Amino acid sequence: MPESDLCRALREETQRRMESPQMMVGPLEGAFLKVMTQLVQATRVLEIGMFTGYSALYFAEALPAKGTVITCEVDEESAALARMYFARSPIGKKIEIRMGPALDTMRSLNGLFDLIFIDADKINYVNYYKRSLDLLSPQGVILIDNVLWDGNVLKQPAPDENTAAIQELNRTVASDPRVTATLVTVRDGILVVRLKNEKT
Ligand SMILES: C[S@@+](CC[C@H](N)C(=O)[O-])C[C@H]1O[C@@H](n2cnc3c(N)ncnc32)[C@H](O)[C@@H]1O
Repeated sequence: MPESDLCRALREETQRRMESPQMMVGPLEGAFLKVMTQLVQATRVLEIGMFTGYSALYFAEALPAKGTVITCEVDEESAALARMYFARSPIGKKIEIRMGPALDTMRSLNGLFDLIFIDADKINYVNYYKRSLDLLSPQGVILIDNVLWDGNVLKQPAPDENTAAIQELNRTVASDPRVTATLVTVRDGILVVRLKNEKT
């Protein structure tokens, strides 16, 4: 699946201007997010961790005309670049940026989401996962990024608090009887989580 001209331009400008451009999911994972959005026939997407808006644009491109992406961010500089690119296309109108700590935003949200993408501060991953379960539609999917953490998840004891937080997230999901989950080894590892129903 080719990267759109808008996503490519945003990726290149992010690489030129931002200190940590590797935070973007990139074209391979972007294509995966797009396909997942289409597979679950999502109309409402929630993203935790927008950065400059690269993954949010992929979601918006995959959604139907009336679909919406709510995306959470704390960093003004990143959001300014995202706003600039969202304004360049009618697709950008599907995206609503919520500034402020994502947990506060998640607590304030109403209604259910078909796809929730967790890709912000690792220390809060378990909190984001728990709140996501309240916000997930019955047929929806939670995607959690960086669960391999460059292979560091295998290290015991965890070398730092971010690794420990991702290890805790992986244990929490694996032992949660309410969900089924699988690890997709695209890029830095994505956990795909859905609610069990009576057939699973
Ligand atoms: C890995 S980047 C997101 C990358 C983005 N999904 C993409 O592919 O372009 C994580 C982002 O989460 C933001 N962030 C960190 N802590 C946050 C918090 N508590 N609430 C909301 N956003 C946060 C950071 O500022 C950063 O831009």
